[in-house]
Amino acid sequence: MNATFKTTNVSYFLTKASFSNEGVNTLPSEGFDRAEREITGWDGYAKTPLESLERLAEQLNLREIYYKDEGPRFGLGSFKALGGAYAVQCVLARAISQRVGKDVSLDDIRNGIYAEQAAQITVTSATDGNHGRSVAWGATRFGAQCRIYIHAEVSEHRAEVMRGLGAEVVRVDGDYDASVAQARREAEENGWLVVSDTSWPGYTQPPLDVMAGYGVMAREIVRDLPTPPTHVFLQGGVGGLAASVAAVFQQEWGAKAPQVIIVEPELAPCLYASGKANAPTLVEIQEETLMAGLSCGEPSELAWSVLAAVSRGFMTIPESVVAPAVRLLANGDASQSAINAGESAVAGLAGVMWAASDPQAREDFNLGTGSRVVLIGSEGVTDPNVFQQIMAGEI
Ligand SMILES: Cc1ncc(COP(=O)(O)O)c(C=O)c1O
Repeated sequence: MNATFKTTNVSYFLTKASFSNEGVNTLPSEGFDRAEREITGWDGYAKTPLESLERLAEQLNLREIYYKDEGPRFGLGSFKALGGAYAVQCVLARAISQRVGKDVSLDDIRNGIYAEQAAQITVTSATDGNHGRSVAWGATRFGAQCRIYIHAEVSEHRAEVMRGLGAEVVRVDGDYDASVAQARREAEENGWLVVSDTSWPGYTQPPLDVMAGYGVMAREIVRDLPTPPTHVFLQGGVGGLAASVAAVFQQEWGAKAPQVIIVEPELAPCLYASGKANAPTLVEIQEETLMAGLSCGEPSELAWSVLAAVSRGFMTIPESVVAPAVRLLANGDASQSAINAGESAVAGLAGVMWAASDPQAREDFNLGTGSRVVLIGSEGVTDPNVFQQIMAGEI
């Protein structure tokens, strides 16, 4: 076992909150059904692999560790391909429906029935990369214009990929939350439609569509597993990924659903802080984490309402565990075949490696030789420069 994970400093706590169905109902199964029907019919749809990390499970004295590898998703590199693009389609259907004064379906948008109207609409969003790729891809696919806001630390490679997908990319001087604010402001001034993966008071439908899209991934896991796992370690940015997966697991497995443990960078612990305060809580990002997709200071309120109901524990992990976890997968030390993962993909993996190795945490999280753990490998190599540096030991 890699010594980094044993000696590192991790903060965690368990929740006392009792489970509430009301929270999970924020994301009803009908929304997941609709998204699944649509997305699984898109050209290029293919289920992503659920890999068994059997070598790692053996080292950690756990029964199984499953790793859902989202690298191949629609050729976009992350699970985010499912959310933003689907939300673009839903937003266009609603907006065009209002403009033409009759029902416009997802089929109509997919089939280009209202191509002329779609071409006059600009969709916009802030992103650290992956959500923006999905929105840009969706806009191109469904014939709309796209404008994406990125913060100062988003790599030029990520910006280039979004330009390649047809987006106009605007770099904002500030952090992720500053880019969200600027996207909102400029959209209001210009009549553009915001397709955000995070919600705020009065803005809920597109993030609900985004989370419904992520449900495709969670349902693939449910169908691949003969019996429910015992634990799921879910990385958190604004919380949309975790909320969607937790809601689907709850709907599909009920009382047998796995324990949900949320893992965040210690540099961006907004869900951890929300768990402590028992309310959505803002944290100020002082320094950018290497896990770019998780660098969020403010939780999505909708996502939080689900996570408040289902989470059994919250953890924060230090930067020092990220590169070793990426290398562990890439060197084939965790599974039969090597897996190339991005920095945000390995947070859950780092979380379980630490928790299973620390005697107190192992007991607190009820981890043992019978445990079957699910992890979401939320991205492949979305920034090859960073991956190369990690593999060369420079990070
Ligand atoms: C690769 C990756 N993993 C995880 C997340 C976190 O998702 P969420 O912000 O919905 O919690 C993101 C968000 O951008 C991401 O890009």
